[in-house]
Amino acid sequence: MRDATVRPATRADVDAVMDLWRELSRHQEPWRVFAPRSEMEADVRRSYERALTDPGSLVLVAEVEGRIVGTAFGHPVVPSSVSDEPAIELAGVVVSAGERKAGVGRALVDGIARFARDQGIGRIVIKTFARNEGALEFWRRLGFEPRMVQMMGESDRLVLLG
Ligand SMILES: CC(C)(COP(=O)(O)OP(=O)(O)OC[C@H]1O[C@@H](n2cnc3c(N)ncnc32)[C@H](O)[C@@H]1OP(=O)(O)O)[C@@H](O)C(=O)NCCC(=O)NCCS
Repeated sequence: MRDATVRPATRADVDAVMDLWRELSRHQEPWRVFAPRSEMEADVRRSYERALTDPGSLVLVAEVEGRIVGTAFGHPVVPSSVSDEPAIELAGVVVSAGERKAGVGRALVDGIARFARDQGIGRIVIKTFARNEGALEFWRRLGFEPRMVQMMGESDRLVLLG
């Protein structure tokens, strides 16, 4: 385990968090399929900035020797359409490429899990691309398991009536 300090992000960290978000975005690009909105990056920045002052949300950063090397964002959602039970959605989880496999990701998720428990929220949900095999293994190792699967087809290429 790398000697990483995990702490809540401040406004001064937003540029570093956005650098990591861009790294995540590049990593996910081959699987995105839907073209991103042109204002996506500005929207993400605003949602991080809002989360910093929202007591129901938490943006964490992980620091190693004064450098920000990872981030994770937890915010409340209601995942089931048949239930009002809340969960914390964990999004924007990324560790910079040179710092992976040293326990930083686990430490970030640990921080969000503690936050969920402190809020009296018993479940954490994540979304990941089905082809992000490294991330799938990471989530499995931490004890996550699939609840729903989103499948996609192209309307003019489905195997239908002909
Ligand atoms: C996924 C990610 C956040 C994991 O962070 P990390 O700091 O490398 O993870 P940790 O070192 O805490 O690993 C925790 C466990 O997961 C395993 N793991 C992590 N990445 C893995 C990978 N790519 N393949 C297989 N196992 C992996 C570790 O070996 C460790 O297992 P163990 O302790 O049970 O042996 C990081 O690889 C990353 O930023 N990836 C690119 C962005 C991304 O895909 N984010 C997730 C979007 S949903």
